[in-house]
Amino acid sequence: MAWHINILTLFPEMFPGPLGQSLSGRALERGDWSYTALNIRDFATDRHKTVDDTPFGGGAGMVMRPDVIEKALLSLPQPGRRIYMSPRGRVLDQRLVEELAALPALTVLCGRYEGVDQRVLDACEFEEVSIGDYVLSGGEPAAMILMDACIRLLAGVMGNAATPDEESFAASTGGLLEYPHYTRPAEWRTADGRTLDVPDILRSGDHAKVEQWRRDQALALTRARRPDLLKK
Ligand code: ADE
Repeated sequence: MAWHINILTLFPEMFPGPLGQSLSGRALERGDWSYTALNIRDFATDRHKTVDDTPFGGGAGMVMRPDVIEKALLSLPQPGRRIYMSPRGRVLDQRLVEELAALPALTVLCGRYEGVDQRVLDACEFEEVSIGDYVLSGGEPAAMILMDACIRLLAGVMGNAATPDEESFAASTGGLLEYPHYTRPAEWRTADGRTLDVPDILRSGDHAKVEQWRRDQALALTRARRPDLLKK
């Protein structure tokens, strides 16, 4: 099933951006996913193509107009679930990514300036989603992060179909951080003359022991770095 995302933005030329490269870029060429980047400005009704105005009550910056955003949204044949990228929102996690990747379509609104008139968020039922506790200058890079996380979960996008499940945060690993990885050379001489070995157990050929070691490592790492994940 192909996945479609509509993006409402003042900067449609930012897309697909980095998503046109590598894994997601090849998936886009194959038609595993598609996007429509609508320029909100195209839906402005006045001569000057006004998309924003000063805030009622005063204060710095500009606020995006509700009527123009509503028009842009209504022009979409299949908007699906509506998301507004905002640092006020629910913080994006793998559970939400899995939900969004399973939808046939969704629409992401990217704000600029000080924000968007609250009425259009309420009236058009936009859910607010944040990518973390920091503030970007606009929602576009946040939308790209959300898109990247969804696209790699689409059927056929990852080369190795078994890989996504084993990673950090996947529900199937109990939401743990990923165990450490090693490859050749087995004995690595660093530039400053130290010899660093790969853990013996990984070269033992005992798959049950390797699995146990990886589980122990994942648990220890999660306990040390992200004890909050163990509570979930
Ligand atoms: N727009 C600005 N900052 C953001 C954030 N942290 N998450 C999502 N959208 C944003």
